[in-house]
Amino acid sequence: MQPDAPSSNPFKQPLRIGGLVVPNRVLLSPLAGVSDAPFRRICQELGAGLTYVEMLLSSTLQHASQRRELMLARHAAEPILGVQLTGPTAESVAEAAGVLNAWRFDTLDLNMGCPVRKIVSGGAGCAILQDPDRVSRTARLVCERSHLPVSAKIRLGYDHANRNVVDIVRRLAGAGVAMITIHGRTRLDHYGVPVDFAGIAEGVAAARAEGRPDLVVTGNGDIFDPSQARRMLDETGCDAVLVSRGALGNPWLFAQILAPGSPHPRLVEWREVLLRHLRYHCEHYGADSFAIARFRKHLLWYVSGFRGMRRLREDLSAVQSAEQIVMLIDRGMADTDPDLRRYVTEQQADRRPREDSFDPKFDMDRHADRALATAG
Ligand SMILES: Cc1cc2nc3c(=O)[nH]c(=O)nc-3n(C[C@H](O)[C@H](O)[C@H](O)COP(=O)(O)O)c2cc1C
Repeated sequence: MQPDAPSSNPFKQPLRIGGLVVPNRVLLSPLAGVSDAPFRRICQELGAGLTYVEMLLSSTLQHASQRRELMLARHAAEPILGVQLTGPTAESVAEAAGVLNAWRFDTLDLNMGCPVRKIVSGGAGCAILQDPDRVSRTARLVCERSHLPVSAKIRLGYDHANRNVVDIVRRLAGAGVAMITIHGRTRLDHYGVPVDFAGIAEGVAAARAEGRPDLVVTGNGDIFDPSQARRMLDETGCDAVLVSRGALGNPWLFAQILAPGSPHPRLVEWREVLLRHLRYHCEHYGADSFAIARFRKHLLWYVSGFRGMRRLREDLSAVQSAEQIVMLIDRGMADTDPDLRRYVTEQQADRRPREDSFDPKFDMDRHADRALATAG
C-alpha cells in the first residue's frame, strides 16, 4: 500500500486549540511516569503534533523539589508542550493554573479522568465527574486564571450508572475550554473493555450542538495502529486523536498514523531510536543505576513486538548501566536480520500479541500497572 496523499489524510491537517496551532492531529497523552522530556522528544521527532508533561496535582506546585523540576523541565528542542493539572477543589486547581502562567507551556489540560484510587479518594482525577457543578466551576475559574488555551480530559462517566458525558461536555463547552478529550471508558472499565466509540460520538455530538465551531474534540482509547486512529475519527466525528499506551515502546505510531501504509521500523532503525531515547534519558536524569532502572520499563516496551526476543527481554529487565544496554542489544541483534521488521501483520489484525511476543502494554490494567486496587 502507498502512503496516503497529504490532502487525503485528515491527521495531517493543523489543529487550532484556542490561539495555539498544533501542526497535526495526532497528540501524545500526558502519561504518568512516562511522558518526560526524553520520551516526548522522541515522540515529537517521530511526528506527535503535541505532547504533555504528566499529570500534576495542584499541591505539587506549592513546593520546589528536584523531582518537580525534572518533571516540568522543557527541553530546548521541544517546540510545543502542554501541561496537565488535577486537584481536589476548583480553587486549588485555579490557583495552580495561575502559578503555571510563569512557566513555559503552550496549553493547559484539566485531568478529569484519572482512575487511580489514591488520586480519586483525594477528590482529584475522575472524582470530579460525580460533581458536575465542580466541573463547571473548575473549568470557568481556570479559563479565567490561565493565560493558556485550556482543555479537559474526561471519561464517559464515573461508572455505568453515571454515564454523564453529554452533561459534562456541555458544561465544559459553556465554561469556555478550547478542547475536550474523551476517553471512551468509565472509571470502572479496565483496559480489557474495548473503547466505546458510540459513547465518544455522543460526547462529540453534544459538543457540536453547543454552536462553538472553535471547540476541538479529541478521541482517546485503544489507538494502537493507524486503522484504529482512523476508526476513531470516522466513527465518532472527533477532530483529533490522543495516543496513550499505543506509543509505549512504539513512538513510530505517530509517523504511521500520519502516513498509513508506511512500513514498521526495521531492526536497525529500531536500535537507532531506542539508543537515541536512552541518550536523551541519560542527558536528563544522568546515567547512574537509579536513572537506568527508570529506563527499564521503556526497554521492555521496546523489545515487545519482535519474535524470539524473550532472552533479550529477560536480560534487559535487570540492566544497571547504559553500556550494558548497548551491549545486550547488540548481542541480541547479532544473529538477527537487521532488516527484520517489527510487528507482524497478523498480530495487528487481532490486536493481541502472541504468547511468544509478550507485549506488556496490552496487558496493562489498573490492578497491575497503575497501583490501583479495586475501584471504590
Ligand atoms: C502508564 C500510564 C500513565 C497514564 N498517565 C496519565 C496521565 O498522567 N494523565 C492522563 O490524562 N491520562 C493518563 N493515562 C491514561 C491515558 O492517557 C489514556 O486515557 C488511557 O490509557 C486510554 O487510552 P489507551 O487505551 O490508548 O491507552 C495514563 C495511562 C497509562 C497506561
